[in-house]
Amino acid sequence: MSVMQIELTRPDDWHLHLRDGAAIADVAAATAAVFGRAVVMPNLRPPVTTTAAALAYRERILTALGGAAGFEPLMTLYLTDRTTPGEVAAAAAAGIVGCKLYPAGATTNSDDGVTDLEALSRTLEAMEEHGLPLLVHGEVTDPEVDIFDREAVFIERVLAPVLGRHEGLRVVFEHVTTSEAVEFVASAPARVAATITPQHLLLNRNAILAGGLRPQNYCLPVLKREKHRRALVAAASGGDPSFFLGTDSAPHPRSAKESRCGCAGCYSAPIALALYAEVFSSAGRLDRLEAFASFHGADFYRLPRNRDRVRLVRSPWRVPDAYPFGDDEVVPLRCGEEIGWRVERVEP
Ligand code: DOR
Ligand code: ZN
Repeated sequence: MSVMQIELTRPDDWHLHLRDGAAIADVAAATAAVFGRAVVMPNLRPPVTTTAAALAYRERILTALGGAAGFEPLMTLYLTDRTTPGEVAAAAAAGIVGCKLYPAGATTNSDDGVTDLEALSRTLEAMEEHGLPLLVHGEVTDPEVDIFDREAVFIERVLAPVLGRHEGLRVVFEHVTTSEAVEFVASAPARVAATITPQHLLLNRNAILAGGLRPQNYCLPVLKREKHRRALVAAASGGDPSFFLGTDSAPHPRSAKESRCGCAGCYSAPIALALYAEVFSSAGRLDRLEAFASFHGADFYRLPRNRDRVRLVRSPWRVPDAYPFGDDEVVPLRCGEEIGWRVERVEP
């Protein structure tokens, strides 16, 4: 008989985009309704490159939420070629939880990203010293490398070498999408972890082209073949503490996404936990959802686990075609289709 409901410790989202301006209020509320904390990505325009900017952004998020439900945004710095060891020390002292590496040109608002990681060695040494993790968008930008191979090539060319040069550096390999990444993280020391998104667990690359172009399923790193999706499900549901929940929920206005050059990013915040429940349920491992969603990430970031709880009830509903997004709207993953679970907060 299938499980009808489960209760778990309130989860956290270890990789989230909240954007800025009027849109924050719409998307942050969806996350705060379910998740206790979220690691907020710094790829705004202009990017969040200083501690002062990160703290100001944190205030804008909290103001937009109006003190909702005890939600805590965890802030990050955007690494550039000019990030100094002093900035890293200030970030660590201010409670910033990590520095994000966007290889320059790899994805949305990454133009100010890092062009030469070896040249940043003193900054990375400061991160080792302060225990501040490097959060990695793991794709090479070499146009000679096929887009479906960019993650695997990044492991060889960038990730393995930097871990070798910096033996105390803690790394989160964000939104892993391939069996190569899963194998690398599973066999790496405990200082290396990875987040996994709902779209990479549920969909393979055919979903971008199912009967026509499906922009809501296009993100970076792009969806991969079915064999990679299966490796990700095995990793997420396998109980290894190196793997944890990070939605990479990345809203774009419909007008920017459904255009001649549509933006990369899947918006999943309102349905993310329900999507992960579907994955763990079909793997027959709902018993391992709580550790993946609520324990492993907090433990890696050396933060306390949440104490409040949520309940997932098996009760199908139809995902809206779009959600409000500032003065535009955003089309979510699974738009207009059924989803199997509903989330309720459990009263303390
Ligand atoms: O699909 C993506 N969207 N991948 C990223 O790395 C960035 C994100 C965004 O900010 O839209
Ligand atoms: Zn992201």
